[in-house]
Amino acid sequence: MDPLRADGACQALRTWNGTADIAAMAAALRTLVPALPEAGAYSADEALAAMRDLGIFLGSLKRHGTEPLSLVPEALPVLTELGRRTGMVPRDTVHHYCTWNPVGERRRMYTGDAQEAHLQDSVRMVFPSLRDGLEKGSSLSETDPLDPKFALLMDELAALLECMVESITMVIDRVSPHWFARELRPYFEEITVGGRVLLGPAAAQVPLWLLDQVVWASDHAEPEYAEFLRESVPYSLPRWRAFYGHWSVVPSVVSRLVQCYGDDPEAAELRHPQLRLSAEALIRMLRVVIVFRGRHLGIARQAYESEVRLYPVGSGGAGVDLLRQILDLTRQTARMSGGAGVPRHDQAHPLPRTCAGARAAQSRATASTPHGSAVPASAPSAVPAPSAPSDQPAPVPALNGKEAPWRS
Ligand code: HEM
Repeated sequence: MDPLRADGACQALRTWNGTADIAAMAAALRTLVPALPEAGAYSADEALAAMRDLGIFLGSLKRHGTEPLSLVPEALPVLTELGRRTGMVPRDTVHHYCTWNPVGERRRMYTGDAQEAHLQDSVRMVFPSLRDGLEKGSSLSETDPLDPKFALLMDELAALLECMVESITMVIDRVSPHWFARELRPYFEEITVGGRVLLGPAAAQVPLWLLDQVVWASDHAEPEYAEFLRESVPYSLPRWRAFYGHWSVVPSVVSRLVQCYGDDPEAAELRHPQLRLSAEALIRMLRVVIVFRGRHLGIARQAYESEVRLYPVGSGGAGVDLLRQILDLTRQTARMSGGAGVPRHDQAHPLPRTCAGARAAQSRATASTPHGSAVPASAPSAVPAPSAPSDQPAPVPALNGKEAPWRS
């Protein structure tokens, strides 16, 4: 689809980017911007394609040091209209840059380098599975952990998430972190659209964080991750934004599982053998996410090493430290779901809503011990100390004294 008849200009853009020809880019963008009534008459697919093509020019102009809408202000009402029509932000997102981008000769790219195409493809390949995965997440949010359907849904989700591991493995094999840091990363800078600062179309918008939200993050995220989640939501699709809104006000899947374990996990498992199967399936799913995040952290570290990087943080507005924290939280969740950390709560202190809440609950409990310093065995575990990055899941403590589920 080429509603702006931009095929030729998009091809030329690769050359203009190579020579930093801002004048040529700005002139081409002015020609591409449609009249407002024309944009208003586009079908939904045409509106997405138009945003994609305008977007690649916006990112290119910014990469060469100019705020694109200062140079081509006539694009502003059109971007606003295209955003409104599609229910999305008024600039291009990772969906436009990767998924709604043709392959072959018509592929829209900043550089024309094969590594850029690999990165686009690595992101494109995860979206069908992630879309289905989010629907599974929606079903899981309504499924009782005691229902045999819970483990089945969780295993289906784990299978869908394998594509994330395949994707990052492909990137590790085919994309040089140095090239990414020096050549591609600058195109993903934020731009200002009508007074609003909008992030570039980077892979951090891939909504793995939204799955976290339903599975554990709605009530177990650290403040930095919760903020990253909130800031990522606007770049998401309308249905997924609605998921976020709903999942933010209901207990996470992990919290409901932990609640089923109650004060006496062993008795709970004896009463409900299905509970252990549910916990095992959850951990199998988290294990896939941990493998993705371990490998992803490895390549992100290399691209953001101080001698290599041009920017201190990623184009999603966060740094490698946050990736480390997210990986640690995912591991911690797996440990907690494995049973050793299944918190036992007294009636006065029901399930903490956040890790901070968990720590507060822990200090309340500690304060009530005779010496005030020892952490009682039943208290929820605190965030573990960071360990060396790895693509292997961290060892999971025994499940209520038994072997951890994924090893059994
Ligand atoms: C050269 C390759 C890559 C580098 C250097 C990189 C770097 C980063 C960085 C620094 C962040 C932190 C947020 C931010 O951008 O500000 C991030 C987040 C993220 N990236 Fe990447 N990334 C790469 C490729 C990918 C690919 C191929 C995918 C998936 C298909 C991906 C998925 C994510 C996700 C889902 C997040 C949000 C945090 C999370 O859920 O763990 N990244 N990335």
